[in-house]
Amino acid sequence: MSKTPKSGRGEGLSAATRLVQIGRDPFSHERVINPPIQRGSTLLFDQADDLYRAGPLSDMKGYGLEGLSTQDRLCEALTEISGGVGTVLAPSGLQALTLALMAATKAGDHVLLTDSSYGPTRRFCREVLAKYGVETEIYDPRIGADIAGLIKPNTSLIILESPGSLTFELQDVPAITAAAKARGVATLIDDTWTAGLYMKPFYLGVDISMQALTKYQGGHADVLAGALITNSPDWLIKLKTMHQMLGIGTSAEDAWLTLRGLRTMGLRMAHQDRVAREIAAWLEGRPEVAQVLHPALPSHPDHAIWQRDFRGAGGLFSVVFKPVAAARINAMAEAYQIFSMGFSWGGFESLALPSTVQINRQFPALHPKGPIVRYSIGLEAQEDLMADLERGFAVLNAA
Ligand SMILES: Cc1ncc(COP(=O)(O)O)c(C=O)c1O
Repeated sequence: MSKTPKSGRGEGLSAATRLVQIGRDPFSHERVINPPIQRGSTLLFDQADDLYRAGPLSDMKGYGLEGLSTQDRLCEALTEISGGVGTVLAPSGLQALTLALMAATKAGDHVLLTDSSYGPTRRFCREVLAKYGVETEIYDPRIGADIAGLIKPNTSLIILESPGSLTFELQDVPAITAAAKARGVATLIDDTWTAGLYMKPFYLGVDISMQALTKYQGGHADVLAGALITNSPDWLIKLKTMHQMLGIGTSAEDAWLTLRGLRTMGLRMAHQDRVAREIAAWLEGRPEVAQVLHPALPSHPDHAIWQRDFRGAGGLFSVVFKPVAAARINAMAEAYQIFSMGFSWGGFESLALPSTVQINRQFPALHPKGPIVRYSIGLEAQEDLMADLERGFAVLNAA
């Protein structure tokens, strides 16, 4: 008999409790608490008729690429966290994004992409979708209901990301999704920042939520994975079909590690959120800083949206420094002894990423001009992180 609630979405239980329970069923696999890692390519059949009936859209698996029980447990867990009807996995967040873009567009379509998107999303639209006859139009992330004026008869998809990569603008998601729904246009949001925990995209009207599991779900900088979660049975079929067409598989080991990450994700994110907000507020008072870009700070221009749509923040934010040579910012980042430099975020280790060269915006930014560094707060002690930031300021200020 299973002791893990498997239906009813654990109503009445807090997210912390459900993160411990979801995606495992010990009494169905030898009473071990965690699901086993199940590896396999070929699946055997004893009925010839089943060979061509099985597959990603049937109740019977046909081949290992569809993912076996370990991947299924992860999909169940992610579906529940976000409140969807199903999940499709990919071996990176970027591949989840590109899979969704392939599934949602065809030659002759028009796509609206927020100016604040993750850079490689924009690159894929520009370099790959364009090659297949799909036009991408960049829109101001803070456009709100005025997105209606950009929707054309051939618009098939609106891509949102809130907060935006590196610059942290928030989008009025319900206003954008209402305009999209009125014209029958699909919406896809990159919800990596809240890991499905602190914002509920489906409640805000989004059709597909993409999450780079590489960040908070994995949580330990040792997994690359991505997910598309939807609350639409039709979209689930389209995503599963494209997943099969592209031959995408996610390893059982990565699914297993991600499931393990989920068990501590609530605790990690709550801690990272608290420390990040305190450090962000402290940084606001520093003379070297022009603006801190963190939507949970009351000074953030979109803070009212944050209060309306979010329940927490995680540990990622940016700092705009007062104008200074890039070499001085680099020297500051190199002087840190706890914050390391590197791409990605959401792990247990704190990172500082000089980001100015990556930021490529078409619409006026909400922040002043100046070099930008993105910080990902990990699990180190707050006082040690602040001492490290002080160390960096000393180098920045050295003539
Ligand atoms: C906002 C956002 N979306 C998607 C991705 C892509 O995730 P992955 O690194 O797993 O491809 C990243 C990676 O940094 C990201 O920051």
